[in-house]
Order: sequence, then structure tokens, then C-alpha cells
Amino acid sequence: MKHLLDIKDLGAAGISEIMRLADQFEEVRDRTVPKVPALRGKTIAHLFFEDSTRTRISFESAAKQLSADVMTFSPRSSSLNKGESLRDTVETLLAMGPDLLVVRHKSSGAPVQIAGWADAVTGGHVPVVNAGDGWHQHPTQALGDVFTVRAALSTQPKDRSDDFTGMRVVIVGDIKHSRVARSNVEAFTALGAEVLLVAPKTLLPASLAAWPVTVTQDLDAALKTADVVYMLRLQAERTVESLVPSLREYHQRFGLSNSRLEELSSKTILMHPGPMNRGVEITGEAMNHPGQRITEQVSNGVSVRMAVLFRLLGVQSDVQREASHLG
Ligand code: CP
Repeated sequence: MKHLLDIKDLGAAGISEIMRLADQFEEVRDRTVPKVPALRGKTIAHLFFEDSTRTRISFESAAKQLSADVMTFSPRSSSLNKGESLRDTVETLLAMGPDLLVVRHKSSGAPVQIAGWADAVTGGHVPVVNAGDGWHQHPTQALGDVFTVRAALSTQPKDRSDDFTGMRVVIVGDIKHSRVARSNVEAFTALGAEVLLVAPKTLLPASLAAWPVTVTQDLDAALKTADVVYMLRLQAERTVESLVPSLREYHQRFGLSNSRLEELSSKTILMHPGPMNRGVEITGEAMNHPGQRITEQVSNGVSVRMAVLFRLLGVQSDVQREASHLG
């Protein structure tokens, strides 16, 4: 793995390797001093061209807990506002010598393009991690979500399995605009899970021919069969409201309402990538459901991002030793 741009860059074996490393870093994060010198001397540049709370702070925490230095780029106060191009901006930052770029962008494909520029300038020595691009991919979100399901099924790292055969994951909501859905479909199916999508037809992609999923509009029936229920945010910033009759009707047909929550088995793992639109795709009561893992998703995101940064920048012999420690 030279860059992490798409879950397909990892495949099942790569996901498992990240999971084993993340198990190690979860243990580090439980220590009194939750910090290791694994990336001391490395500099990680965070280029967030689109708003973010969870992913941005999570990458910053992960870098700091690995003792890396962090270079933070703020587009709102940058020379982009004076007309500098994306390419010139990236090449300017590369000239300051970061060891890795973390990129969030509203345009699908921007991190792929930036990885190409970084390869050309540095001879392939600066990896790029996609922190979410448009509707395309959000690989570290999916890795955190896979980790969360493993950890929900077994708190002991040595007992955790990456074989999700027989598991049914139900992903509900705005599939069309969701990079989280695309990454999670790839990650969960790579590990053997079956994925069922529930969405109004207006919020499905134009073609699902290449997606290894089944689709329904019957949320109540889907919830009865789910091992994992993954609610997606209705993405108001992508003019989605014109694609549903009204938010009230959307909530009635596709929202995890209080009455649906009451019916949901306490053993069902309930997830949401955040930020949540309470009263639209989910209600505040969801946080009281015994299967809710939404807070853990955020926390586990730090462990998997530590694993990704270490996998891309750590000394190879250390990576292999850490990855095999539990296995
Ligand atoms: N889940 C997620 O990507 O959240 P942010 O947009 O806050 O990073």
C-alpha cells in the first residue's frame, strides 16, 4: 500500500492487517500516557478543503499519539483565496517536507489527483490518505466501522474475528451521495458480510450493477433481519431535500424513529457516521439503545487512523512485529 485512497487498495488481507495494528493502538490509548514514539521525527500535513469535525480531529489525535508533528492547512485563510490553484497549493506544501498528506475534499477524485502530483514531485515518497472525497470514498471511516463491529462482538482483541461471513449489514438512507456507504459496502463485503441497502429510489445511485448488495424500500422488514443497522446522514449540503417529498415523510418511511427503535433487538449493532440529523434519519433516543456504538465509532476512528499512519510511515520491521503481536 503506497497510498490509502480507496478501500479496494487494502482488500480483505489489508483490512485485517490494519485491524491487528488498531488492536495494538487501542491498548496504547488505554495507557496512563497514551503516546508512543513510533513516528517521532515524521511530519503529517492535514489538508482539509471541506469541513470536518470527527475525521480532522481524529487524524490530529492519531498523529500526536504516535509522536508525529502535524502541519495544518486552513483553506479559508490560505492563498487559495488569492486565486492559487489546488496543484500549486499542494506543491507549495510538499516543498516544506511533510512525510504524509491527509486530504479531505468535496470533489470526488481530488485525493487521487493529489497523490499523482505528490508522486511526481517526491518520487513516490509521500503517501496520501483520503479523508473523504465527495461521494467517492471515506476509507478510514469504513476501517473504524469494521473495527467497531469486531469490538462490539468481542471486547478481547485476541478473540476478535475479521471473518464476517453470515453477518447481515443493513445500510439505510442517502446512499446516492454517501462516500461512507461506498466504502462500507466494499469493506463489509470484502470480509464476507451480506449488505442490504434501504433507501428511496431517488437516493440510490443511477446504477447498482457493480455493487455487491441487495436493495429494498421496506425498512421495517430489513430491521428484523439485521445484525448491524447503519443509518446514513441525509446530506443537506448536497441539495438532497429536493429528492424527498419532505423531511417529515422521509423520517416516517426511512428514519429510525422511536417506534422502530423499540422494536429493534437489543443485540443489533446500531451505527451512524455522524454528524447526525436528529429527527430526520435518526432520533436522539437512539443514543439510549443498548446496541448503539456511535460514540465508539468516533473513538475507534483514532485507533484505526494510528494504524493507517503507522502502516504507511512506520519502520517496516516494527509494522510487522506489531501486526503479528496478537496473531
Ligand atoms: N464521519 C465524518 O466523516 O465526520 P466529519 O465530516 O465530521 O469528519
